[in-house]
Amino acid sequence: MSDGHRICDYGDSTYRQDFWEGQGRGYEDAVERRVLASLLPRSGRRLLEIGAGFGRLSGEYRMFRQVVLLDYSLEQLQYARSRYGDDGFLYVAADAYRMPFQACAFDAAIMIRVIHHFENVPAVLGQIRNALADSGAFILEYANKCNFKAMLRHIAGSNDWNPFTLEPVEFVELNFNFHPEYIREQVLNLGFALRRTVPVSWLRLGLLKRALPTSLLMLGDRALQLTGWTISPSIFLDLQLDKPVAASLLDSEDPLDLLRCPVSGSSLRWVDDALISDNGLRWAMRDGVFDFRQPEA
Ligand SMILES: C[S@@+](CC[C@H](N)C(=O)[O-])C[C@H]1O[C@@H](n2cnc3c(N)ncnc32)[C@H](O)[C@@H]1O
Repeated sequence: MSDGHRICDYGDSTYRQDFWEGQGRGYEDAVERRVLASLLPRSGRRLLEIGAGFGRLSGEYRMFRQVVLLDYSLEQLQYARSRYGDDGFLYVAADAYRMPFQACAFDAAIMIRVIHHFENVPAVLGQIRNALADSGAFILEYANKCNFKAMLRHIAGSNDWNPFTLEPVEFVELNFNFHPEYIREQVLNLGFALRRTVPVSWLRLGLLKRALPTSLLMLGDRALQLTGWTISPSIFLDLQLDKPVAASLLDSEDPLDLLRCPVSGSSLRWVDDALISDNGLRWAMRDGVFDFRQPEA
């Protein structure tokens, strides 16, 4: 719990091994990479990935000069760092509700398989809006409450929630599914323009995945994406922010120009091996990861 909201803390969980590696999700992973590649700009200066986890997708961002991976789990980020190193990457352990970034510091942001852990969606989206510069791109993936499987279960009477109503459903503690209209309303309210909606992962069914090769599943998925029907289990949004900006921070690659104290909002300076804010809070650097979860005592 922090500032009144619950956090889904992955800590040193075995998410990578238990959910991805050898767990029969090659199709989901490949489809997400393909859609991401089609939505990412050709080049960019600084990208923020929120809830980057162990960096599953972070190798796709080489067109950016600098990539900042943010996650609440220090351990997931340390694993990501062991994969990608420090050249062009910065690792930030922080709560997405309280991001340690100066305003307008990024020209793009990505959040995939993360928003379902937030009970206060507008608060986190507001943080992302603040971190993005004018015309900033934001690629957002969310789990769709109103997907065809949930609809069938609802009609058969085996769901205890209604996929057609707009409010988020918390089906397991701190795991929410969202109605497309709900998410649309949240992003539009914050001044994002919706450039494209891509419904994905249509063929996420054990039987199909066992019977068909990933390449064929991807072809089928591509065809279904073209329908534009928002009844798939996962939906990608390609968003763009329109906001006036006083000054851009995008040209500096110095972390001190980019980071700020998540409590006071003040700039930071190095003292020994920690960052200190104007009100004396000390934020540690742990094995190459900036730790903004709690200040040091
Ligand atoms: C399901 S994993 C997705 C990881 C990655 N985006 C991917 O697709 O492989 C969700 C991630 O969100 C992170 N997360 C959850 N709540 C968070 C919060 N309040 N602030 C920052 N990260 C958070 C978790 O630590 C976890 O790494």
